[in-house]
Amino acid sequence: MSDLRVEIEKEPVQGDTNRSRVKNRVGLVATCALGGSLVALYAVAVPFIAPALRKTCLPFVPATNTQVKNVLRALQSRSGTLVDIGSGDGRIVIAAAREGFRSVGFELNPWLVWYSRYRAWKQGVHRHTSFYISDLWKMEQLEAKLQTELQSSARVVACRFPFPTWTPDHVTGEGIDTVWVYDAETFKSHTTTAKAAEPQ
Ligand SMILES: C[S@@+](CC[C@H](N)C(=O)[O-])C[C@H]1O[C@@H](n2cnc3c(N)ncnc32)[C@H](O)[C@@H]1O
Repeated sequence: MSDLRVEIEKEPVQGDTNRSRVKNRVGLVATCALGGSLVALYAVAVPFIAPALRKTCLPFVPATNTQVKNVLRALQSRSGTLVDIGSGDGRIVIAAAREGFRSVGFELNPWLVWYSRYRAWKQGVHRHTSFYISDLWKMEQLEAKLQTELQSSARVVACRFPFPTWTPDHVTGEGIDTVWVYDAETFKSHTTTAKAAEPQ
């Protein structure tokens, strides 16, 4: 008689324990899923937001179709290698590769680099394109670097953000589609002139 009573008393306790174990497991899975989603969101969002928070703000604002056409127009009758510094989703690199250029993109955001590689592969130009994850120099440093390292035959085309101290040789398009064209021969001669003018 006493044994039976003990069994009756135990049964609901066992059921409660199971229910609370299931609840704990659901809670743990939900916490892990939420935590995982937040980490994934952070990992995806930060590379897009970070460039906009730097001193030289250069966020991912992809070129419009007109802008891409303007870039290609600026490179008409030229051949060789095109380098896009801050190549975004690779649209300029890919468009230039389709025009016969050997094209290279350097980009801070790894997601955009992987996406660019995928786009290049999908459009059949992956053999003529390369994309690298790379943190570029600040604009002023970039000017100096290009001035000293580019050959005189090179041409630099800026989209959306013109170079701070160079004067463009040509400007194509208007508004957000504007592209600024700088011939290395011109901006390199300015360094030479400036150096020549420096007191010895
Ligand atoms: C205005 S978007 C231009 C994208 C592309 N060139 C186009 O026209 O579609 C500028 C790009 O530069 C990248 N960027 C910003 N700062 C950078 C840095 N320090 N090094 C490399 N890329 C950078 C951004 O992630 C963004 O994709």
